[in-house]
Amino acid sequence: MIDGIERIVGEARLVHDPETERVELALSVDDRWQKQGLGLALFDDLQRRAAEIGPVDLFGDTLRTNAAMIGLARRSGFALLATPGDWRLTRFQKHIDRSGILPSRWPISADPIGRLAL
Ligand SMILES: CC(C)(COP(=O)(O)OP(=O)(O)OC[C@H]1O[C@@H](n2cnc3c(N)ncnc32)[C@H](O)[C@@H]1OP(=O)(O)O)[C@@H](O)C(=O)NCCC(=O)NCCS
Repeated sequence: MIDGIERIVGEARLVHDPETERVELALSVDDRWQKQGLGLALFDDLQRRAAEIGPVDLFGDTLRTNAAMIGLARRSGFALLATPGDWRLTRFQKHIDRSGILPSRWPISADPIGRLAL
């Protein structure tokens, strides 16, 4: 809530393929809200939600030049790999199960459709 108006400052998505038990993620934070910890909060939340699906391989693809996303993924223990079929991209990937997931460090709550409030 900013000045009494609800605004979207970031978006995070998971897509689960039940046949392969792979989950693809994407996230973005509004430019004006970056470098304040929101990306890390969303990234942590995505990992927690992936762990609720079950043991899965969680991955995303980003441009090789995207230092912010690569830094965030590296910091969170993701392996960095070449993305098959596109030399411009880097894949970050991590096997996720409940064992490695810590309780949220953030006061996040989610409504029934998954909107998060800090
Ligand atoms: C990637 C993105 C989500 C990071 O969001 P953010 O809110 O700025 O990230 P945070 O402030 O939570 O930073 C968390 C960590 O990410 C890393 N990081 C963030 N910005 C970085 C940068 N410019 N260079 C290197 N590492 C960076 C750091 O490890 C940082 O931890 P630290 O501050 O303790 O060093 C954001 O830059 C973004 O939305 N970019 C555009 C969309 C995008 O590229 N999405 C990824 C494709 S899936």
